[in-house]
Amino acid sequence: MNTKNTYNFFEELDNLDIDEQGRERFPNRNPKKLPKSEQSFLQKQDDSSASFKFTYKAARFEEWWLLDSLGDFYEHQWISDVLRRVKGGKEASVYQCLAGSAIPAGGLVAAKVYRPRMLRNLKNDSAYREGRTDLNEDGQSLFKDADVHAMQKRSSYGEELRHTSWIAHEFTTLQTLHAVGADVPAAYAMQKNAILMGYIGDELTSAPALNEVSLAHSEAKILFERVLHNIKLFLDANRIHGDLSAYNILYWDGNITLIDFPQVVNPSGNRNAFKVFERDVIRVCDYFIKQGLKADGRKLAADLWQAHGHKVHQEVDVRLLDAEDPQDRALWKKQKSGR
Ligand SMILES: Nc1ncnc2c1ncn2[C@@H]1O[C@H](COP(=O)(O)OP(=O)(O)OP(=O)(O)O)[C@@H](O)[C@H]1O
Ligand SMILES: [Mg+2]
Repeated sequence: MNTKNTYNFFEELDNLDIDEQGRERFPNRNPKKLPKSEQSFLQKQDDSSASFKFTYKAARFEEWWLLDSLGDFYEHQWISDVLRRVKGGKEASVYQCLAGSAIPAGGLVAAKVYRPRMLRNLKNDSAYREGRTDLNEDGQSLFKDADVHAMQKRSSYGEELRHTSWIAHEFTTLQTLHAVGADVPAAYAMQKNAILMGYIGDELTSAPALNEVSLAHSEAKILFERVLHNIKLFLDANRIHGDLSAYNILYWDGNITLIDFPQVVNPSGNRNAFKVFERDVIRVCDYFIKQGLKADGRKLAADLWQAHGHKVHQEVDVRLLDAEDPQDRALWKKQKSGR
């Protein structure tokens, strides 16, 4: 099957739901009636699974999806086994894997495998993409006219490039932020549909997110400061998380790790940057206020922003607004009237 068909096929696999017991539900399609090209693709996957067998008991379609997404990690010895699924999300699933010989420290690593739905669900990714270049699967900027054109035209090849670019942004951001000492997982390798990073947790339990944890007052204070320290490091490195909240901060052994960076925003080259930044800071404050701390998210965001030499732009890009949301509509009217 060519790349386009493979991509379309995996688009369809998006309809596949896997329930808690690992049973597959594939509502729109009867896998027994697949066209020839897909049958031969699946046959090939069955053949390659002969060399990459993993401990995790994946259901049939999920296994193919994993072989396609993680096969290169296995071949290049970044991983030697897939042990279990940590989280099966709508947009990405995370698997606990055993490090291969390419990772000298060994131990456990986390593979985040994306579903194409991730891209479709973005309300309008241009508001985030503004001010950042698109990247290929090697983390290099896309510069070929044909590629840029394919993305603008939203051809299926272009959509695949866009999908990979989001993943590459997550990967290169983890590399950059880890290098400056931020509390993020180490990034080991990326494939066009998956990234491999440090695993937080132990064999039996992966780290819970902060929103699942209640903190003692003294610990909340320390961790709030630590999150702010990270937010400042991100700004120093020209990054805004873009989807920061207690859901994307893992907690383990008293330490925090910030995760989930595909939508990362450039603070200098993006008109929406301050609003996105402010939303991140307010959400973090909301969590810590619930833990008994006092914080003023709006003021804190403006202070941090200005301390990093940025101007506070109040105008929101209309593409970020939701026409169905009364608050967004009111904001749009206010902006239009110039008040
Ligand atoms: N490095 C890691 N170590 C341990 N667990 C992780 C790691 N990265 C992610 N996870 C787990 O996987 C979940 C989903 O990861 P992430 O937030 O990066 O993806 P997502 O795109 O938000 O997925 P979803 O749409 O399911 O929320 C996290 O909430 C966390 O439970
Ligand atoms: Mg998340």
